Amino acid sequence: MKRTTVLLALGFVFAAISIDQTFAQQSSNAAKAESTVHNSAARVNGYEPMWWKEAVVYQVYPRSFQDSNGDGIGDLNGITQRLDYLKKLGVNVIWLSPHYDSPNADNGYDIRDYRKVMKEFGTMADFDRMLAGIKARHMRLIVDLVVNHTSDEHRWFVESRSSKDSPYRDYYFWRDGKPNPADPAHPLPPNNYPSFFSGSAWQWDGTTKQFYLHYFAVKQPDLNWDNPKVREDVFALMKFWLDKGVDGFRMDVIPLISKQPGLPDLTPEEMKDPPRLWANGPHRDEYLQQMNREVLSKYDVMTVGEAIGITLEEEPKIINSQRHELNMVFNFDAVRLNRGEFYSEAKWTLPQLKAIYDHHATALSKTDWDTVFLSNHDNPRLVSNYGDTSTAEFRIRSAKLLETMLLTLRGTPFIFQGDELGMTNYPFTRLDQFNDIEVKNAYKEKVLGGKMTEGEFIAESRRFGRDNSRTPMQWSDAPNAGFTSDAAKPWLAMNPNYKEINASKEGADPESILRYTQEAIGLHHAHLAFVYGDYKDLDPDNTQVFAYTRTLKVPAKPDQRFLVVLNFGEKPLDYTLPEGVTAGKLVLANVQGTPETGGSKLKLGAWDARVYTY
Ligand code: NOJ
Repeated sequence: MKRTTVLLALGFVFAAISIDQTFAQQSSNAAKAESTVHNSAARVNGYEPMWWKEAVVYQVYPRSFQDSNGDGIGDLNGITQRLDYLKKLGVNVIWLSPHYDSPNADNGYDIRDYRKVMKEFGTMADFDRMLAGIKARHMRLIVDLVVNHTSDEHRWFVESRSSKDSPYRDYYFWRDGKPNPADPAHPLPPNNYPSFFSGSAWQWDGTTKQFYLHYFAVKQPDLNWDNPKVREDVFALMKFWLDKGVDGFRMDVIPLISKQPGLPDLTPEEMKDPPRLWANGPHRDEYLQQMNREVLSKYDVMTVGEAIGITLEEEPKIINSQRHELNMVFNFDAVRLNRGEFYSEAKWTLPQLKAIYDHHATALSKTDWDTVFLSNHDNPRLVSNYGDTSTAEFRIRSAKLLETMLLTLRGTPFIFQGDELGMTNYPFTRLDQFNDIEVKNAYKEKVLGGKMTEGEFIAESRRFGRDNSRTPMQWSDAPNAGFTSDAAKPWLAMNPNYKEINASKEGADPESILRYTQEAIGLHHAHLAFVYGDYKDLDPDNTQVFAYTRTLKVPAKPDQRFLVVLNFGEKPLDYTLPEGVTAGKLVLANVQGTPETGGSKLKLGAWDARVYTY
């Protein structure tokens, strides 16, 4: 049997555009729709319409996207070359991972100069050209704002570490060590904070004989937001980029900016999950409100915070529109459902995943806004993580199913580069194949520290390591997948499956994951039900089928009613829809030959994904 995608949706999609012309045209035609920001009078299903609620966001990890100058590292001109690809895909906002000057201890998340472009990525003129290209195509750009910490090579830190009297001393956290009776010449760290990247979060500095705080790498000292001058400087650099025309920020680990007064030791209970405490510092909301008042509110922007350490119930403190902080945050409950301690795997069930999405729908109100994502540069590949890569056929079907889900659930969808092709995890077998500081540091702690064998460590890192998603984009079957022309090899190895999985092949194949994702994005843009519609999980306990509706009542127009049915597994089954729900016309399906009408009983094949009216 041929199991391929069928593009059934087109006719219906175009017919249906007229249903919600007003809003759909605003959202899908950015040329005309400057913004819905000021159109707050017309609520849609109780939500204030905003362009960023209606967007589909695509994350570009610049190092791995497209190399234009043959040095093996992606760059801004490479992105500019690929803007037509993104436009065609249908995404309308690009989130660019850090592009700033950096010594790259953590691939750009350690910034040396916030107003300079990383030299490997090009120049400010290249940035301006890229931005102009984005705007010319009626897309928008948000950039990464990494201001919980800087690089230790940032001018502020260089000054700060130079002497205790430096005017920049208080830009960071400097503390005396604790006496070390066993070795008085080597004091102990000021408290028991662990670093995200293994070891203590404190680094001894010989110049002034004090420790400085770094939640992440030693080369990423934490900024002291309690110092008003730090806030002033951060706000100024934000304005610098906004005045250039960027449309907002993805804010790196932003809840961590307010530290615990006095930095006391973590209790044994707090030690089980330090970010919970770190993310709930006493001034977090005050500082974000100041940022909003002094910077964000003056521009038409989108902001999305990385909500590390924040529970879903706590999110409204940051995202409720009446609190004037951020627009939305990333919540990690879904993406980390299958994760145990560090990179170990946890068993998960479909009802658990559904419960998370249901929880999102109930915990957030109409004055909050959500994101939906299942991958990024810190997580494994979408299809390797939640799909099935055991056969080519299942990979294709399950990748399409996951894209269907992301584009029809509640919240602004975020797609990570390459997931639209069904790119997979890399078959790592050796430590020297990894580049990521998280893996390298963890190796020292876990393998050299005798906690696990090298084999176990490699197996876990192959499953969950961050480099899985950072291997270069697979553009074609040319050498190095068309990612880089001249370099003998790219900065991180290409996945050897690029001859099979690449954009050029998929672009020419109407049944590819790429073409399907394009279709699913088109469907998302065409119907505001997928943006503002109510969400209802029809069958929360079903262990194999995820079935839900998105329903939107538009005054004086027919209701928009969509039913999504996802068979989360390879087992075919006869599925009877819960009482009262009948699948109507098929609008999208990931398998060719799916009957055009549904009914109350559906025959679902392996990894079938369908969207119907109902
Ligand atoms: C979160 C980023 O997504 C990750 O890549 C980075 O290592 C840490 N924050 C530190 O900036």
